[in-house]
Amino acid sequence: MLVFNTQLELVSHLNAVSGKKTSVGFVPTMGALHAGHLSLLEQSIKNNAVSVISIFVNPTQFNNAEDLAKYPKTLEADIQKIKTVSDTIIVFAPSVDDIYHGNTVSQHFDFDGLEHQMEGRFRPGHFDGVGTIVKRLFEIVKPDNAYFGEKDFQQLQIVKKLVSKYKIPVKVIGCPIFREPNGLAMSSRNERLSSEERKNAAIIYKTMKQAKKLFANKSAKEVTKFVERTFQGNPDFELEYFQIADEATLLPCIRKSGSKKYRAFIAVFVNKIRLIDTISLN
Ligand code: PAF
Repeated sequence: MLVFNTQLELVSHLNAVSGKKTSVGFVPTMGALHAGHLSLLEQSIKNNAVSVISIFVNPTQFNNAEDLAKYPKTLEADIQKIKTVSDTIIVFAPSVDDIYHGNTVSQHFDFDGLEHQMEGRFRPGHFDGVGTIVKRLFEIVKPDNAYFGEKDFQQLQIVKKLVSKYKIPVKVIGCPIFREPNGLAMSSRNERLSSEERKNAAIIYKTMKQAKKLFANKSAKEVTKFVERTFQGNPDFELEYFQIADEATLLPCIRKSGSKKYRAFIAVFVNKIRLIDTISLN
């Protein structure tokens, strides 16, 4: 399996193969891979002649130094997991310097307001960091297709906006959330939970499914109250936000409209570890 640690090496390899008019699939990640990431790779392998995965913990998208310092880094184990999908996958695992050349700062983006909701509200600068790295990785890899998990649905919408605003010739494909057997959405951060916390975190998806059921007959405000009450009664969890929003604009749902698609979004702290989840409501 090919593992490149510099853009120069990756680009010269890709230039050699893309001269043959192959389609390139790309899965950007921050490593600590789980079954959700592997499912993105499977999609890529199925639909492209060449598949590239990047493993890069991007410092500019972290607004919390402790979260960045504690982010799991498991490159060797990740490579073994990638091999189980296919040993033809190309791994790009650059250093911070190789990407940022000593200037580790974000570009500022206007994503037409998508960046101000939810994650953007609670993690200032986060989507400038995501936009910066995804744009840079797209410029390096030049993929035809790029695969992102729907767990980070706001990120997925923002990447689609980035591609349309900057006219980047890549198709952005959202893929379904992978869940642990108890319903907890798979996330690299789950590795930091104790087995007890991991078990108890099932409450997040359970509450999301209840919220979805309630939304059939209740207003967004009533459903939000229900979710807030559920977490208030549970001292092991701290609810950061729960929001029902229009899938296209990510603006909060004030009054339901039959013509819109809605989605619920949640962020919860379990012992300082921040977990997010989302569910489609119609
Ligand atoms: O979703 C992630 O893992 C990251 O935000 C991404 C898209 C790889 C950019 O660093």
